[in-house]
Amino acid sequence: MSEPKIVDTATLTVGDKTVELPILEGTEGPRVIDVRKLYAETDMFTYDPSYTSTASCDSELTYIDGDVGILRHGGYSIEDLTENSSFLEVCYLLLHKELPNQAELTEFETTITNHTMIHEQLRNLYSGFRRDAHPMALLIGVVGAMSAFYHDSTDINDPQQRLIASHRLIAKMPTIAAWAYKYTVGQPFVYPNNDMSYAENFLHMTFSVPAEEYKPSPAIVRAMDKIFILHADHEQNASTSTVRLAGSSGANPFACIASGIATLWGPAHGGANQAVLEMLAQIGDKKNIPEFLERAKDKDDPFRLMGFGHRVYKNYDPRAGVLKASADEVLEEVGAANDPLLDLAMELERIALEDEYFVERKLFPNVDFYSGIIFKAIGFPTSMFTVLFALARTVGWIAQWKEMIEDPGQRIGRPRQLFTGPTERPYPPIGNR
Ligand code: SDX
Repeated sequence: MSEPKIVDTATLTVGDKTVELPILEGTEGPRVIDVRKLYAETDMFTYDPSYTSTASCDSELTYIDGDVGILRHGGYSIEDLTENSSFLEVCYLLLHKELPNQAELTEFETTITNHTMIHEQLRNLYSGFRRDAHPMALLIGVVGAMSAFYHDSTDINDPQQRLIASHRLIAKMPTIAAWAYKYTVGQPFVYPNNDMSYAENFLHMTFSVPAEEYKPSPAIVRAMDKIFILHADHEQNASTSTVRLAGSSGANPFACIASGIATLWGPAHGGANQAVLEMLAQIGDKKNIPEFLERAKDKDDPFRLMGFGHRVYKNYDPRAGVLKASADEVLEEVGAANDPLLDLAMELERIALEDEYFVERKLFPNVDFYSGIIFKAIGFPTSMFTVLFALARTVGWIAQWKEMIEDPGQRIGRPRQLFTGPTERPYPPIGNR
């Protein structure tokens, strides 16, 4: 990776000290003030508890302009990629930072296809869970356990092992995810069929039963593949930052990805796609929208408009736009063109985007607002929605992890704090407390 270039200097005066801090510039987006020497020179830390103004790394993978609503991977817009590419081609782009030629793509597809099965012993892990376990809990458990099965790809210092681990995670997530669904609905596991494409194989493992083959329409397969592309990577979001921090300690890639899955589960992050469908069910009818919008604005009410708002996007999330269009296509395809849920969601969006509270705070629909409507139309239960997000985001997590490990300047991440607790005091005997 190229070193960011110093383009200017920031002068900081702290008491009687003046500190000159380099200003670094990337290829686009905000410049950064390099504060790495701040503590050494001022005995002070920066303070940014939820990292609203902090760049944790430099990266060549994904660029977001939240003000305009731009998302690009390797310089290619998400609109171009969803229109022209396949999920596996985007996986190659994220792993190698260039689009593949035909020979490279064919080889990559063959490699991934040949890694779709999981170790037969991993099957036994599922039976340790209750049938009513949330599929995300199974995903965390099985992915974390992969480090106990694939010892030949846990040495993070071996480029070949890093690549094999990346291939294994991308290839096996659909199998692990589909089996998490099968286990919770009490149906037998369906093995991958390597004659199928990535998305088709996943749908096959999820919805086929021994009694009859599930044959998804090409339109549904294409929609699934497109949705995977839309969820592939998203710069330094909470789960990706977790994967990077876990990886900075030298933890093996499977453990790091399990930490990313755990973080994604939260309703403020990837868990929002499940929460949106639960919210729409709670609203129930268009006539109730005003009441729920008032609740969303009420600071004393924990209700939030799920699928709305974003730390970075202060404009329409470009992924939501593509998903909204896909929702129409999928609903048409499955004969649910007049799904009341989509109607309700679109009316909710229309009213919210005219409401001063949302306009003032630049709260727009995000990736999670429409995805659940599509997932439900295809046949997934709401409990599987965040699993689908994790399946697709695995390539982003592992590509960011790989980029960090391959950065020669990489060190363990270790933030500091502003201590506000008690100063030193004598230990009181228990009788005196
Ligand atoms: C994802 O980071 C990523 O890139 C994530 C992601 C990815 O691809 O990895 O894009 C995926 O996580 C999308 C986000 C999914 N989450 C949701 O849809 C949950 C609902 N959204 C909110 O919880 C919230 O918008 C967040 C968590 C997404 C962002 O929170 P921030 O940046 O901390 O924003 P904030 O809480 O400071 O909000 C600013 C203001 C506040 O009001 P004021 O204090 O200024 O009066 O906007 C309000 C908030 O109360 N607000 C909302 C709201 N989101 C923000 N009010 C009602 N409903 C909402 N959804």
